[in-house]
Amino acid sequence: MNAARKPLLAANWKMNKTPEEALAFWREFSGRLSGETGRVEVVICPPYPALPALQGADLRARGVYLGAQNVHWESRGAFTGEVSPGMLRAVGCSHVIVGHSERRAYFGESDEAVKRKLRAALEEGMTPILCVGETLEQRTAGRAEEVVAAQLTAALEGLDTGRAARVVVAYEPVWAIGTGRSAEARDAGEMAVAVRRRLRELAGPAAEKIRILYGGSVAPDNFAQFLAEAEVDGGLVGTASLRPESFFALVASAANAATAQAGEGEAQ
Ligand code: PGA
Repeated sequence: MNAARKPLLAANWKMNKTPEEALAFWREFSGRLSGETGRVEVVICPPYPALPALQGADLRARGVYLGAQNVHWESRGAFTGEVSPGMLRAVGCSHVIVGHSERRAYFGESDEAVKRKLRAALEEGMTPILCVGETLEQRTAGRAEEVVAAQLTAALEGLDTGRAARVVVAYEPVWAIGTGRSAEARDAGEMAVAVRRRLRELAGPAAEKIRILYGGSVAPDNFAQFLAEAEVDGGLVGTASLRPESFFALVASAANAATAQAGEGEAQ
């Protein structure tokens, strides 16, 4: 982590929770919050049908943001099954995940589609959480950095610096997602350094503002190790975000790390 960037923790619920279950989670989770959201940007990304229920629960009053898991790049039209950035804004979303590896792998989302989604989200004033990451085969072949650099280039090349600074990048090695097998913190830290390097090439000074998250089997017992890496600014969390107690433990861990970091900054 770096005191200059506010850590961000996003819950990706994937295809889990009805509106009622989402509200039950929120009651329990919000009951535990006591000031952590001043130090950590917390985002909850439920499935679309749960968005209005959570919008009604006024997460913002407790410092928590609402996000979506996907978006289409057009604002309206004949695109059956799709949802536009404006529609997401209308149900309270400030953030949106784009290019998650499950969308890339199971729904054939191309780099070009990811680029359009990212730009459409920015255009609407939303914060896109751009997911990048290599497969196990690519890592074994020594191509992890190259693959991730290419994904970043495809999505971000040519973006003006004002917009680029609002992007959040989630580095998620595909083999670590939902498997219970996280990356080693050191490896994730090295990849985050490589991501920052590429971001500097693509976005210049704006790269220092971009938060880089780690994702892939983040859990309360391993998260602090990831946050200790200089270029890791938070996490994108699937499984461990489904239970209020484990997601809160992650939020608390990030808040503590941010406090320690600020203390170090003052001492210097
Ligand atoms: P996981 O999912 O935490 O269950 O590995 C992470 C993600 O897909 O964003």
